[in-house]
This record gives sequence, C-alpha cells and structure tokens, in this order.
Amino acid sequence: MQLQKTVPILQIRDLNVWYGKSQILKNLAFDVLPRQVTAFIGPSNSGKTTLVRCLNRLNDLSVNFRHTGKILYKGNDLYTPKTKTTKISRQIGMVFQKPIPFRKSIYENVAYSARLREIKQSDQLDTIVEENLRKAQLWNEVYKDLHASPEILSNGQQQRLCIARALAGAPEILIFDEPCEQLDAAETPKLEAIVQGLKSRYTLIFVTNKRRQAARVSDIAGFLYNGELIEFGQTEQIFTNPKDKRTENYVAGRVG
Ligand SMILES: Nc1ncnc2c1ncn2[C@@H]1O[C@H](COP(=O)(O)OP(=O)(O)OP(=O)(O)O)[C@@H](O)[C@H]1O
Ligand SMILES: [Mg+2]
Repeated sequence: MQLQKTVPILQIRDLNVWYGKSQILKNLAFDVLPRQVTAFIGPSNSGKTTLVRCLNRLNDLSVNFRHTGKILYKGNDLYTPKTKTTKISRQIGMVFQKPIPFRKSIYENVAYSARLREIKQSDQLDTIVEENLRKAQLWNEVYKDLHASPEILSNGQQQRLCIARALAGAPEILIFDEPCEQLDAAETPKLEAIVQGLKSRYTLIFVTNKRRQAARVSDIAGFLYNGELIEFGQTEQIFTNPKDKRTENYVAGRVG
C-alpha cells in the first residue's frame, strides 16, 4: 500500500514564453511525476518543442527568447543565475528529431557524456559505454565496431546512439522530441521498446505528433494547441474520455 504522495520532479507554474513579440506559450501549469512517461501531443507549431526546450534551458540559446513564470526542478528554481546550464542539459537530457552523432567513434560518442561527469578511468568508461549501449538496445549491433565512425550506422541506429550518449550523462529526465520522425517505420517499435525499458529508472518526456504513439508509450498526456495546454491528465482519459472538445477533435484525428 502506497500512502506517500509522489513528489513531482518538475513543477511548471504560469509559464509564458515569447520569441520576440510573439507569445508562443500561454499560462502553462502542470507537474511531471518521476518514473512516468509524460507525452505532449498537438499540431505543428502548437509549441511542443518550445515547451520542452524550456525544461532544460536549451531555449536560452535563442536570443529572442523570454519567459515569465516558474519551472521548479526537484523543488528548486531552474532559472536562477546560479544554475549551471551545462549540468542541467546533462541531468535533463534531450534526444532530437534528427540524430546528430558527434564526429567521433561510436565508443567516444557515449564516453563523451561520462567524461563530462569527470569519469576518466578506461575500465569505468568501458563499463559505462557498454551499459548505455545496451539500454539503448544497440550494443549487439555495434560491439564489434566500437571504434568505427557512426557514419557506418543507419539513421535508426544513430538515433539509438544518441540515446546511449544522453544516458551516459546519467540524466534524471530524458526528453524525446519527435524521435521517430526521421526514422524508417521498422525503427519505431524499437524506439518505443527502449522507452518502456527506461521508464522504471528515468523520468521520460515524449513529444510526438503521432497520436497512437502517445497513447502507446505514455502514462500521462498533455494536449497543446496554439500555445495553450488544453488538457493534461492520464493518457487513457485523454484518449478515451477527453473533457475538452478541442482535445476530442484532435485525438479523434478530425484536426491537425
Ligand atoms: N527560435 C525561434 N524564434 C522565433 N520563433 C520561433 C522559434 N522557435 C519556434 N518559433 C515559433 O514558435 C511556434 C511554436 O513552434 P514549436 O517549434 O514549438 O512548435 P511544435 O509544436 O514543436 O511544432 P512541430 O510539430 O512542427 O515540431 C511556431 O510558430 C514557430 O515558428
Ligand atoms: Mg517541434
């Protein structure tokens, strides 16, 4: 029997975001619970990428980015001048639409994130590389070619390498932003299986414009439309019994 209430790992309160003069996100408020998959769905340009890039401060790189409101990561304000953004991008890792491995060997792509954690011993690095290539379900396909360039890999394998690289940074939260968008259809179930395998140990945030994929992979789902979080709740409820007409139209495939 679980009596304790789960403490959210992220708390988003009154979040408004602008790029220049255009307001992109409007008054968002929600919690992300640890070791769950939280999906964000919504049409193109609804603000999904903008939202997830706020959660690990990647938006700081955009010169015209401005926000109000609060994002708390384990109870602490993510946006203080003291926050080390390099550390945040490791703790709250990201896997992008297009896999972009570094121009280093397969091994060094993964070891890179461990080195950022000051891990230097080669036996320790070997263990971390193997462990995370296994979590990304790539080890069996690359263990003979660890010192080759990632260019020998397919697009889908490169995406799994990027997942291993993010995991080797020992993140607590891993964000996927439409990770299957540029992959062969055969890669999609592999990626979904990785997500299921990771969920007992990590908090996962999954952006997708594939409604059925969100329904398959997530526990909690949020529907973004025009920069507003129209509905946020248990995935099953969002897909089978949405409260808002706009959510209903979207999940039924009538719009977007
Ligand atoms: N760096 C930027 N500067 C100015 N405007 C931007 C920037 N990034 C995104 N936008 C604008 O913000 C809005 C939301 O874009 P965003 O990429 O967050 O949507 P999305 O829901 O992720 O869309 P998609 O499904 O196509 O990936 C769009 O109108 C987009 O043009
Ligand atoms: Mg996007």
